[in-house]
Amino acid sequence: MTVIKKLDDLDIILSKFQRKKILGLVPTMGSIHRGHISLIKTALKVSDEVWVSIFVNPTQFNDVNDYKKYPKDVQKDINQIESLAPNIKIFLPSVYEMYGSNIDKISFNFDGIDKVLEGLKRPGHFDGVGTIVKKLFEIFNPNFVFFGEKDFQQTIIVQKIIDAYFKNIKMIICPTIRAENGLALSSRNSLLSKKANKNISIIYDSLLFAKQNFYKFSVKEMGKIIKVNIEKNPGFFLEYFELRCSKTLKTYKRGNNQNSQCRAFICVTVDGVRLIDNLLLNHEN
Ligand code: PAF
Repeated sequence: MTVIKKLDDLDIILSKFQRKKILGLVPTMGSIHRGHISLIKTALKVSDEVWVSIFVNPTQFNDVNDYKKYPKDVQKDINQIESLAPNIKIFLPSVYEMYGSNIDKISFNFDGIDKVLEGLKRPGHFDGVGTIVKKLFEIFNPNFVFFGEKDFQQTIIVQKIIDAYFKNIKMIICPTIRAENGLALSSRNSLLSKKANKNISIIYDSLLFAKQNFYKFSVKEMGKIIKVNIEKNPGFFLEYFELRCSKTLKTYKRGNNQNSQCRAFICVTVDGVRLIDNLLLNHEN
């Protein structure tokens, strides 16, 4: 298994890669779960060479404690990836390797996409994501990059980076992978207590409720019912539930946006752990 930590070593390997072949890149922050595995499996299907980057990117955390407590288990990650296919290559840089001594982020113009939902709650988060994604794309010059639908807003941000700087890269968005109770898989799930886990299905159930009752209730009514149902579980707090147009992330208005895809976005904090999810409500993908 190739695990590369230094940019100089990576450059040597990448310089030998024949550019006629297809290079697939799966950027991750580690703590590999079945969601990542599905991204890597998709990458394996369409690429000649697959790289997985594991890097907990400091500039996308607006809360130092959140950064510090972000789950890490590098050896377990490597073993899991190796068990999928031993020829997958891993890039595991240090913060210094990626940022040098200036841990700064670029200030992008994302046309307001970064100012709603997660962007509103975590100011600067998407500039941090954009900064690291741009660095990784510059380093690897991949043909394909793989991201999960679970972080739907992030996929729009990444597409904007691609449109602005990397016209030759194609992003493949893979469906959200869920636990049996519907919880969207995320590295943060490992921070949940057993007690919280018991009632956690309420998050996906709320999205399903929104889909089933899309034409029955107004957005306001729907939001009220969902909030009450979620917050009757001790330790659960609804940060947001919003309906937005899939393409623009503008607020979905029934009269005006009838033909647009409407997506519900939800964020629930459970004992201090932020969990996000989303679901397309009206049209299929
Ligand atoms: O989705 C993630 O894990 C991160 O935001 C990403 C895309 C790897 C950038 O650090």
